[in-house]
Amino acid sequence: MMRLVQDWIPQQRWFGGKGRTITSVEEDSATIILDADPQVRLLVVRVGYDDGTSEHYQLLLASTKDAVEQRLEHALLGEHEGRLVYDAVHDPVASSALLDHLAGGHQVETLSFVNDAPIDADLPGRVLGAEQSNTSLVYGDALILKVFRRLQPGANPDIEVTKALADAGSPHVATPLAWYDGRVDGEVTTLGLLQPFLRGSSDGWSMATASVRDLFGEADLHADEVGGDFAGESERLGAATGEVHGLMRQVLPSATAGADESQATARQLNERLDAALLVVPELAEHADAMRASYDVVATRTAAVEVQRVHGDYHLGQVLRTQEGWVLLDFEGEPARPLSERRALMSPLRDVAGMLRSFDYAAQHLLAEQTVRPDLIYRAEEWATRNRNAFCDGYAAAVGADPREEAVLLRAFELDKAVYETVYEARNRPSWLRVPLASIGRLVGEAA
Ligand SMILES: Nc1ncnc2c1ncn2[C@@H]1O[C@H](COP(=O)(O)OP(=O)(O)O)[C@@H](O)[C@H]1O
Ligand SMILES: [Mg+2]
Repeated sequence: MMRLVQDWIPQQRWFGGKGRTITSVEEDSATIILDADPQVRLLVVRVGYDDGTSEHYQLLLASTKDAVEQRLEHALLGEHEGRLVYDAVHDPVASSALLDHLAGGHQVETLSFVNDAPIDADLPGRVLGAEQSNTSLVYGDALILKVFRRLQPGANPDIEVTKALADAGSPHVATPLAWYDGRVDGEVTTLGLLQPFLRGSSDGWSMATASVRDLFGEADLHADEVGGDFAGESERLGAATGEVHGLMRQVLPSATAGADESQATARQLNERLDAALLVVPELAEHADAMRASYDVVATRTAAVEVQRVHGDYHLGQVLRTQEGWVLLDFEGEPARPLSERRALMSPLRDVAGMLRSFDYAAQHLLAEQTVRPDLIYRAEEWATRNRNAFCDGYAAAVGADPREEAVLLRAFELDKAVYETVYEARNRPSWLRVPLASIGRLVGEAA
Protein backbone atom coordinates (compact mmCIF):
# COMPACT_ATOMS: atom_id res chain seq x y z
CA MET A 1 0.00 0.00 0.00
CA MET A 2 2.75 2.46 0.93
CA ARG A 3 4.33 1.64 -2.43
CA LEU A 4 1.19 3.02 -4.14
CA VAL A 5 1.31 6.13 -1.97
CA GLN A 6 4.96 6.72 -2.80
CA ASP A 7 4.20 6.81 -6.54
CA TRP A 8 1.09 8.95 -6.17
CA ILE A 9 1.96 11.56 -3.55
CA PRO A 10 4.58 13.53 -5.56
CA GLN A 11 1.90 14.57 -8.07
CA GLN A 12 -0.44 16.06 -5.49
CA ARG A 13 -0.80 19.84 -5.46
CA TRP A 14 -0.46 19.95 -1.66
CA PHE A 15 2.67 17.81 -1.52
CA GLY A 16 5.51 19.91 -0.13
CA GLY A 17 8.43 17.61 -0.96
CA LYS A 18 8.59 18.37 -4.70
CA GLY A 19 12.11 18.25 -6.06
CA ARG A 20 13.33 15.96 -3.28
CA THR A 21 13.77 12.20 -3.56
CA ILE A 22 11.46 10.10 -1.42
CA THR A 23 13.25 7.18 0.21
CA SER A 24 10.42 5.82 2.36
CA VAL A 25 6.71 6.12 3.11
CA GLU A 26 5.59 4.66 6.44
CA GLU A 27 2.21 4.48 8.11
CA ASP A 28 2.10 6.51 11.34
CA SER A 29 -1.55 5.65 12.00
CA ALA A 30 -4.55 4.29 10.13
CA THR A 31 -8.18 4.51 11.21
CA ILE A 32 -11.17 3.06 9.40
CA ILE A 33 -13.73 5.88 9.28
CA LEU A 34 -16.21 4.00 7.07
CA ASP A 35 -16.42 0.23 7.21
CA ALA A 36 -18.39 -0.61 4.09
CA ASP A 37 -17.63 -0.98 0.42
CA PRO A 38 -15.86 1.27 -0.28
CA GLN A 39 -13.93 1.10 2.94
CA VAL A 40 -12.48 4.48 3.88
CA ARG A 41 -9.36 4.90 5.96
CA LEU A 42 -7.78 8.02 7.37
CA LEU A 43 -4.03 7.65 7.37
CA VAL A 44 -1.17 9.68 8.73
CA VAL A 45 1.96 8.79 6.80
CA ARG A 46 5.56 9.76 7.29
CA VAL A 47 7.44 10.53 4.08
CA GLY A 48 11.23 10.21 4.35
CA TYR A 49 13.65 11.99 1.98
CA ASP A 50 17.20 11.25 0.88
CA ASP A 51 18.49 14.28 2.81
CA GLY A 52 17.44 12.60 6.06
CA THR A 53 14.38 14.80 6.67
CA SER A 54 10.78 13.63 6.83
CA GLU A 55 7.28 15.06 6.70
CA HIS A 56 3.85 13.85 7.80
CA TYR A 57 0.77 13.92 5.59
CA GLN A 58 -2.90 13.13 6.08
CA LEU A 59 -4.48 10.86 3.48
CA LEU A 60 -8.03 9.65 3.05
CA LEU A 61 -7.95 6.47 1.02
CA ALA A 62 -10.90 4.42 -0.13
CA SER A 63 -10.68 0.84 -1.32
CA THR A 64 -13.26 -1.26 -3.11
CA LYS A 65 -13.66 -4.77 -4.48
CA ASP A 66 -15.62 -3.43 -7.44
CA ALA A 67 -14.57 -1.35 -10.40
CA VAL A 68 -14.57 2.37 -9.55
CA GLU A 69 -17.02 4.68 -11.26
CA GLN A 70 -15.64 6.57 -14.22
CA ARG A 71 -15.73 9.92 -12.40
CA LEU A 72 -13.32 8.52 -9.78
CA GLU A 73 -10.79 7.06 -12.20
CA HIS A 74 -8.59 10.17 -12.07
CA ALA A 75 -8.26 9.61 -8.30
CA LEU A 76 -6.94 6.03 -8.53
CA LEU A 77 -3.68 5.09 -6.83
CA GLY A 78 -3.74 1.48 -8.06
CA GLU A 79 -4.56 -2.01 -6.86
CA HIS A 80 -3.69 -3.49 -3.49
CA GLU A 81 -4.55 -7.04 -2.35
CA GLY A 82 -7.22 -7.34 -5.03
CA ARG A 83 -8.90 -4.03 -4.17
CA LEU A 84 -8.79 -0.74 -6.04
CA VAL A 85 -7.45 2.13 -3.96
CA TYR A 86 -8.36 5.78 -4.65
CA ASP A 87 -8.18 9.23 -3.08
CA ALA A 88 -11.37 9.31 -1.03
CA VAL A 89 -11.78 13.10 -0.97
CA HIS A 90 -13.34 12.79 -4.45
CA ASP A 91 -16.00 10.33 -3.28
CA PRO A 92 -19.15 11.85 -1.71
CA VAL A 93 -19.56 8.65 0.33
CA ALA A 94 -16.29 9.38 2.10
CA SER A 95 -16.96 13.09 2.61
CA SER A 96 -20.35 12.16 4.11
CA ALA A 97 -18.66 9.80 6.55
CA LEU A 98 -16.43 12.62 7.78
CA LEU A 99 -19.35 15.03 8.18
CA ASP A 100 -21.33 12.37 10.00
CA HIS A 101 -18.54 11.89 12.56
CA LEU A 102 -18.25 15.67 13.01
CA ALA A 103 -22.03 16.08 13.46
CA GLY A 104 -22.12 13.21 15.94
CA GLY A 105 -19.03 14.27 17.87
CA HIS A 106 -17.74 10.70 17.54
CA GLN A 107 -14.59 9.16 18.93
CA VAL A 108 -13.15 6.71 16.38
CA GLU A 109 -10.13 4.97 17.89
CA THR A 110 -7.62 7.82 18.37
CA LEU A 111 -9.60 10.30 16.23
CA SER A 112 -11.71 12.79 18.19
CA PHE A 113 -14.45 14.59 16.27
CA VAL A 114 -15.68 17.69 18.13
CA ASN A 115 -18.42 20.18 17.30
CA ASP A 116 -19.28 23.58 18.70
CA ALA A 117 -22.60 23.94 16.85
CA PRO A 118 -25.31 21.70 15.39
CA ILE A 119 -24.16 20.30 12.03
CA ASP A 120 -26.48 19.05 9.26
CA ALA A 121 -24.90 15.69 8.43
CA ASP A 122 -27.02 15.23 5.28
CA LEU A 123 -25.44 17.96 3.19
CA PRO A 124 -23.73 16.46 0.12
CA GLY A 125 -19.98 17.00 -0.11
CA ARG A 126 -17.72 17.84 -3.04
CA VAL A 127 -14.06 18.66 -3.27
CA LEU A 128 -13.26 22.34 -3.89
CA GLY A 129 -11.46 22.90 -7.19
CA ALA A 130 -9.17 25.71 -6.07
CA GLU A 131 -6.87 23.50 -4.03
CA GLN A 132 -3.95 25.26 -2.37
CA SER A 133 -1.86 23.83 0.47
CA ASN A 134 -4.66 21.62 1.72
CA THR A 135 -7.80 19.94 0.44
CA SER A 136 -11.16 21.55 1.15
CA LEU A 137 -14.55 19.80 0.98
CA VAL A 138 -17.67 21.90 0.48
CA TYR A 139 -21.01 20.62 1.82
CA GLY A 140 -24.13 21.91 0.11
CA ASP A 141 -22.62 25.39 -0.26
CA ALA A 142 -23.13 25.78 3.49
CA LEU A 143 -20.04 24.30 5.13
CA ILE A 144 -16.39 23.91 4.21
CA LEU A 145 -14.09 21.32 5.74
CA LYS A 146 -10.40 21.93 5.38
CA VAL A 147 -8.49 18.64 5.47
CA PHE A 148 -4.96 19.55 6.55
CA ARG A 149 -2.51 17.67 4.38
CA ARG A 150 0.96 18.47 5.65
CA LEU A 151 0.95 17.85 9.40
CA GLN A 152 3.26 18.96 12.15
CA PRO A 153 2.70 17.43 15.58
CA GLY A 154 1.08 19.86 18.00
CA ALA A 155 -1.39 22.76 18.08
CA ASN A 156 -2.53 23.83 14.63
CA PRO A 157 -2.29 27.63 14.39
CA ASP A 158 -5.20 27.86 11.94
CA ILE A 159 -7.81 26.62 14.41
CA GLU A 160 -6.04 28.16 17.39
CA VAL A 161 -6.04 31.69 15.98
CA THR A 162 -9.34 31.54 14.07
CA LYS A 163 -11.15 30.25 17.14
CA ALA A 164 -9.62 32.88 19.43
CA LEU A 165 -10.74 35.62 17.02
CA ALA A 166 -14.22 34.16 16.49
CA ASP A 167 -14.71 33.72 20.26
CA ALA A 168 -13.78 37.37 20.69
CA GLY A 169 -16.52 38.32 18.21
CA SER A 170 -14.46 39.24 15.15
CA PRO A 171 -16.59 39.67 12.01
CA HIS A 172 -13.44 39.09 9.92
CA VAL A 173 -13.06 35.30 10.34
CA ALA A 174 -15.15 32.24 9.48
CA THR A 175 -16.21 30.75 12.83
CA PRO A 176 -14.89 27.23 13.51
CA LEU A 177 -17.97 25.00 13.82
CA ALA A 178 -16.29 21.60 14.27
CA TRP A 179 -12.91 19.95 13.96
CA TYR A 180 -11.20 16.61 14.38
CA ASP A 181 -7.98 15.74 16.14
CA GLY A 182 -5.73 12.75 15.74
CA ARG A 183 -2.21 11.86 16.74
CA VAL A 184 0.95 12.67 14.85
CA ASP A 185 4.09 11.17 16.35
CA GLY A 186 1.97 10.58 19.46
CA GLU A 187 1.00 14.26 19.84
CA VAL A 188 -2.60 15.49 19.60
CA THR A 189 -2.88 17.39 16.31
CA THR A 190 -5.86 18.96 14.54
CA LEU A 191 -6.41 17.23 11.21
CA GLY A 192 -9.52 18.99 9.91
CA LEU A 193 -11.52 22.20 10.45
CA LEU A 194 -15.19 22.84 9.54
CA GLN A 195 -16.33 26.42 8.95
CA PRO A 196 -19.32 28.13 7.32
CA PHE A 197 -18.90 28.31 3.55
CA LEU A 198 -19.07 31.97 2.61
CA ARG A 199 -21.34 31.62 -0.41
CA GLY A 200 -21.23 34.30 -3.06
CA SER A 201 -17.96 35.75 -1.83
CA SER A 202 -14.98 36.55 -4.07
CA ASP A 203 -11.36 36.12 -3.18
CA GLY A 204 -9.10 39.14 -3.09
CA TRP A 205 -6.81 37.86 -5.81
CA SER A 206 -9.61 37.45 -8.39
CA MET A 207 -11.04 40.86 -7.57
CA ALA A 208 -7.67 42.60 -7.69
CA THR A 209 -6.59 41.01 -10.96
CA ALA A 210 -9.99 41.80 -12.53
CA SER A 211 -9.40 45.42 -11.60
CA VAL A 212 -5.96 45.36 -13.24
CA ARG A 213 -7.45 43.78 -16.38
CA ASP A 214 -10.04 46.59 -16.54
CA LEU A 215 -7.30 49.15 -16.31
CA PHE A 216 -5.33 47.57 -19.15
CA GLY A 217 -8.50 47.58 -21.23
CA GLU A 218 -8.91 51.35 -20.73
CA ALA A 219 -5.66 52.37 -22.34
CA ASP A 220 -6.20 56.12 -21.86
CA LEU A 221 -7.39 56.16 -18.29
CA HIS A 222 -5.50 56.10 -15.00
CA ALA A 223 -6.09 53.71 -12.11
CA ASP A 224 -8.29 56.19 -10.24
CA GLU A 225 -10.48 56.83 -13.29
CA VAL A 226 -11.63 53.36 -14.36
CA GLY A 227 -14.82 51.66 -13.25
CA GLY A 228 -12.98 48.72 -11.72
CA ASP A 229 -10.88 50.83 -9.34
CA PHE A 230 -9.94 48.66 -6.38
CA ALA A 231 -8.59 51.28 -3.99
CA GLY A 232 -11.77 51.48 -1.90
CA GLU A 233 -11.61 47.71 -1.35
CA SER A 234 -7.90 47.87 -0.60
CA GLU A 235 -8.55 50.47 2.06
CA ARG A 236 -11.31 48.37 3.63
CA LEU A 237 -9.02 45.36 3.52
CA GLY A 238 -6.32 47.37 5.26
CA ALA A 239 -8.79 48.36 7.95
CA ALA A 240 -9.98 44.76 8.42
CA THR A 241 -6.36 43.63 8.69
CA GLY A 242 -5.59 46.29 11.28
CA GLU A 243 -8.69 45.36 13.31
CA VAL A 244 -7.73 41.67 13.25
CA HIS A 245 -4.16 42.45 14.32
CA GLY A 246 -5.50 44.61 17.14
CA LEU A 247 -7.79 41.84 18.37
CA MET A 248 -5.04 39.22 18.08
CA ARG A 249 -2.88 41.41 20.28
CA GLN A 250 -5.65 41.37 22.89
CA VAL A 251 -6.69 37.75 22.92
CA LEU A 252 -3.41 35.98 22.08
CA PRO A 253 0.07 36.44 23.52
CA SER A 254 1.98 39.61 22.63
CA ALA A 255 5.03 41.45 23.97
CA THR A 256 7.21 44.50 23.62
CA ALA A 257 10.65 43.40 22.51
CA GLY A 258 13.95 45.25 22.68
CA ALA A 259 16.93 45.66 20.38
CA ASP A 260 17.77 41.95 20.54
CA GLU A 261 14.54 41.28 18.62
CA SER A 262 15.72 43.49 15.75
CA GLN A 263 19.10 41.75 15.74
CA ALA A 264 17.44 38.34 15.66
CA THR A 265 15.18 39.50 12.82
CA ALA A 266 18.15 40.72 10.78
CA ARG A 267 19.94 37.43 11.39
CA GLN A 268 16.92 35.46 10.24
CA LEU A 269 16.48 37.54 7.08
CA ASN A 270 20.18 37.10 6.26
CA GLU A 271 19.94 33.34 6.75
CA ARG A 272 16.95 33.11 4.45
CA LEU A 273 18.83 35.12 1.86
CA ASP A 274 21.83 32.76 2.20
CA ALA A 275 19.57 29.78 1.57
CA ALA A 276 17.81 31.45 -1.38
CA LEU A 277 21.11 32.38 -3.04
CA LEU A 278 21.90 28.69 -3.38
CA VAL A 279 18.72 28.20 -5.43
CA VAL A 280 18.47 31.52 -7.29
CA PRO A 281 21.85 32.78 -8.58
CA GLU A 282 20.09 35.84 -10.05
CA LEU A 283 19.72 37.17 -6.50
CA ALA A 284 23.47 37.68 -6.15
CA GLU A 285 23.32 40.99 -7.98
CA HIS A 286 21.15 42.48 -5.19
CA ALA A 287 22.56 40.56 -2.24
CA ASP A 288 24.83 43.32 -0.88
CA ALA A 289 22.11 45.94 -1.12
CA MET A 290 19.65 43.65 0.63
CA ARG A 291 22.11 42.88 3.40
CA ALA A 292 22.62 46.62 3.83
CA SER A 293 18.88 46.98 4.41
CA TYR A 294 18.97 44.14 6.94
CA ASP A 295 21.95 45.78 8.69
CA VAL A 296 19.85 48.87 9.29
CA VAL A 297 17.28 46.64 10.99
CA ALA A 298 20.02 45.09 13.14
CA THR A 299 21.10 48.46 14.49
CA ARG A 300 17.57 49.54 15.41
CA THR A 301 17.26 50.31 19.10
CA ALA A 302 13.57 51.22 19.30
CA ALA A 303 11.16 48.73 20.90
CA VAL A 304 9.28 46.38 18.60
CA GLU A 305 5.73 45.27 19.32
CA VAL A 306 5.49 41.55 18.66
CA GLN A 307 2.41 39.33 18.57
CA ARG A 308 0.84 36.38 16.80
CA VAL A 309 0.39 37.10 13.10
CA HIS A 310 -1.28 35.52 10.07
CA GLY A 311 2.07 34.43 8.70
CA ASP A 312 1.17 33.77 5.05
CA TYR A 313 -0.85 36.84 4.19
CA HIS A 314 -1.73 37.65 0.60
CA LEU A 315 -4.74 38.42 -1.60
CA GLY A 316 -5.53 34.70 -2.03
CA GLN A 317 -6.13 34.43 1.72
CA VAL A 318 -8.97 36.94 1.97
CA LEU A 319 -12.59 36.76 0.85
CA ARG A 320 -14.91 39.68 0.18
CA THR A 321 -18.38 38.80 1.44
CA GLN A 322 -21.41 41.06 1.25
CA GLU A 323 -20.62 42.29 4.76
CA GLY A 324 -16.90 42.87 4.34
CA TRP A 325 -13.49 41.21 4.25
CA VAL A 326 -12.88 37.84 5.90
CA LEU A 327 -9.36 36.56 6.57
CA LEU A 328 -8.66 32.85 6.02
CA ASP A 329 -5.95 30.34 6.64
CA PHE A 330 -4.05 31.38 9.78
CA GLU A 331 -1.79 28.36 9.37
CA GLY A 332 1.32 30.35 8.48
CA GLU A 333 3.67 29.05 5.80
CA PRO A 334 3.16 25.26 5.94
CA ALA A 335 6.82 24.69 5.01
CA ARG A 336 8.12 26.42 8.14
CA PRO A 337 8.47 24.66 11.51
CA LEU A 338 5.54 25.04 13.90
CA SER A 339 7.61 26.87 16.52
CA GLU A 340 8.46 29.53 13.95
CA ARG A 341 4.87 29.79 12.75
CA ARG A 342 3.55 30.31 16.29
CA ALA A 343 6.33 32.69 17.31
CA LEU A 344 5.55 36.29 18.23
CA MET A 345 6.69 38.71 15.55
CA SER A 346 6.03 42.12 14.13
CA PRO A 347 2.59 42.40 12.46
CA LEU A 348 4.39 44.36 9.74
CA ARG A 349 5.29 40.95 8.30
CA ASP A 350 1.66 40.50 7.33
CA VAL A 351 1.46 44.04 5.99
CA ALA A 352 4.54 43.33 3.88
CA GLY A 353 2.97 40.10 2.61
CA MET A 354 -0.13 41.93 1.40
CA LEU A 355 1.90 44.75 -0.15
CA ARG A 356 3.87 42.15 -2.13
CA SER A 357 0.60 40.60 -3.21
CA PHE A 358 -0.60 43.92 -4.68
CA ASP A 359 2.59 43.98 -6.74
CA TYR A 360 1.97 40.46 -7.93
CA ALA A 361 -1.63 41.18 -8.85
CA ALA A 362 -0.50 44.21 -10.85
CA GLN A 363 2.23 42.30 -12.69
CA HIS A 364 0.65 38.94 -13.23
CA LEU A 365 -1.01 39.66 -16.60
CA LEU A 366 2.36 40.89 -17.84
CA ALA A 367 4.53 38.12 -16.48
CA GLU A 368 4.25 35.85 -19.47
CA GLN A 369 4.01 38.32 -22.34
CA THR A 370 6.53 40.46 -24.10
CA VAL A 371 7.26 43.64 -22.24
CA ARG A 372 5.03 46.60 -23.03
CA PRO A 373 6.32 49.74 -21.31
CA ASP A 374 2.93 51.47 -21.33
CA LEU A 375 1.31 48.57 -19.47
CA ILE A 376 4.22 48.23 -17.06
CA TYR A 377 3.71 51.86 -16.15
CA ARG A 378 -0.02 51.25 -15.65
CA ALA A 379 0.64 48.19 -13.52
CA GLU A 380 3.00 50.09 -11.25
CA GLU A 381 0.53 52.92 -10.92
CA TRP A 382 -2.18 50.44 -9.90
CA ALA A 383 0.11 48.76 -7.36
CA THR A 384 1.19 52.03 -5.77
CA ARG A 385 -2.38 53.27 -5.52
CA ASN A 386 -3.65 50.09 -3.90
CA ARG A 387 -0.67 49.57 -1.63
CA ASN A 388 -1.19 53.09 -0.31
CA ALA A 389 -4.92 52.61 0.09
CA PHE A 390 -4.27 49.41 2.08
CA CYS A 391 -1.82 51.25 4.36
CA ASP A 392 -4.31 54.13 4.78
CA GLY A 393 -6.99 51.70 5.94
CA TYR A 394 -4.57 49.87 8.22
CA ALA A 395 -3.27 53.13 9.73
CA ALA A 396 -6.79 54.35 10.45
CA ALA A 397 -7.67 51.07 12.20
CA VAL A 398 -4.58 50.69 14.40
CA GLY A 399 -3.68 54.36 14.85
CA ALA A 400 -0.16 53.95 13.44
CA ASP A 401 0.90 54.11 9.81
CA PRO A 402 2.99 51.10 8.73
CA ARG A 403 4.81 53.34 6.20
CA GLU A 404 6.36 55.20 9.14
CA GLU A 405 8.27 52.00 9.93
CA ALA A 406 9.85 52.12 6.47
CA VAL A 407 13.07 50.28 7.35
CA LEU A 408 11.38 47.30 8.94
CA LEU A 409 8.59 47.18 6.38
CA ARG A 410 11.04 47.24 3.47
CA ALA A 411 13.16 44.50 5.04
CA PHE A 412 10.07 42.30 5.40
CA GLU A 413 9.03 43.03 1.82
CA LEU A 414 12.50 42.09 0.62
CA ASP A 415 12.31 38.87 2.60
CA LYS A 416 8.96 38.00 1.00
CA ALA A 417 10.32 38.77 -2.45
CA VAL A 418 13.33 36.54 -1.77
CA TYR A 419 10.95 33.74 -0.81
CA GLU A 420 9.01 34.37 -4.03
CA THR A 421 12.14 34.09 -6.17
CA VAL A 422 12.77 30.62 -4.73
CA TYR A 423 9.18 29.62 -5.43
CA GLU A 424 9.28 30.97 -9.00
CA ALA A 425 12.69 29.46 -9.76
CA ARG A 426 11.30 26.07 -8.77
CA ASN A 427 7.82 26.32 -10.21
CA ARG A 428 7.52 29.05 -12.87
CA PRO A 429 10.91 30.29 -14.07
CA SER A 430 9.30 32.71 -16.53
CA TRP A 431 7.86 34.63 -13.57
CA LEU A 432 11.17 35.07 -11.77
CA ARG A 433 11.48 38.58 -13.10
CA VAL A 434 8.42 39.74 -11.10
CA PRO A 435 9.99 39.40 -7.61
CA LEU A 436 13.44 40.31 -8.99
CA ALA A 437 12.10 43.60 -10.36
CA SER A 438 10.50 44.34 -6.99
CA ILE A 439 13.75 43.65 -5.18
CA GLY A 440 15.46 46.09 -7.55
CA ARG A 441 12.83 48.72 -6.77
CA LEU A 442 12.99 48.17 -2.99
CA VAL A 443 16.77 48.37 -2.72
CA GLY A 444 16.64 51.43 -5.01
CA GLU A 445 14.23 53.14 -2.58
CA ALA A 446 16.49 52.29 0.33
CA ALA A 447 19.58 53.75 -1.33
N1 LIG B 1 -15.18 29.78 4.57
C1 LIG B 1 -14.98 29.77 3.25
N2 LIG B 1 -15.97 30.11 2.39
C2 LIG B 1 -15.78 30.11 1.04
N3 LIG B 1 -14.63 29.76 0.46
C3 LIG B 1 -13.60 29.41 1.25
C4 LIG B 1 -13.72 29.40 2.68
N4 LIG B 1 -12.55 28.99 3.21
C5 LIG B 1 -11.73 28.77 2.16
N5 LIG B 1 -12.34 29.02 0.98
C6 LIG B 1 -11.77 28.90 -0.36
O1 LIG B 1 -10.80 27.87 -0.34
C7 LIG B 1 -9.50 28.38 -0.67
C8 LIG B 1 -8.44 27.69 0.18
O2 LIG B 1 -8.68 27.95 1.54
P1 LIG B 1 -7.52 28.15 2.59
O3 LIG B 1 -8.13 28.21 3.94
O4 LIG B 1 -6.66 29.31 2.18
O5 LIG B 1 -6.76 26.75 2.47
P2 LIG B 1 -5.30 26.35 1.97
O6 LIG B 1 -4.58 26.01 3.22
O7 LIG B 1 -5.52 25.17 1.08
O8 LIG B 1 -4.68 27.53 1.28
C9 LIG B 1 -9.62 29.87 -0.43
O9 LIG B 1 -8.74 30.60 -1.25
C10 LIG B 1 -11.07 30.16 -0.75
O10 LIG B 1 -11.22 30.39 -2.14
MG1 LIG C 1 -4.66 29.52 1.64
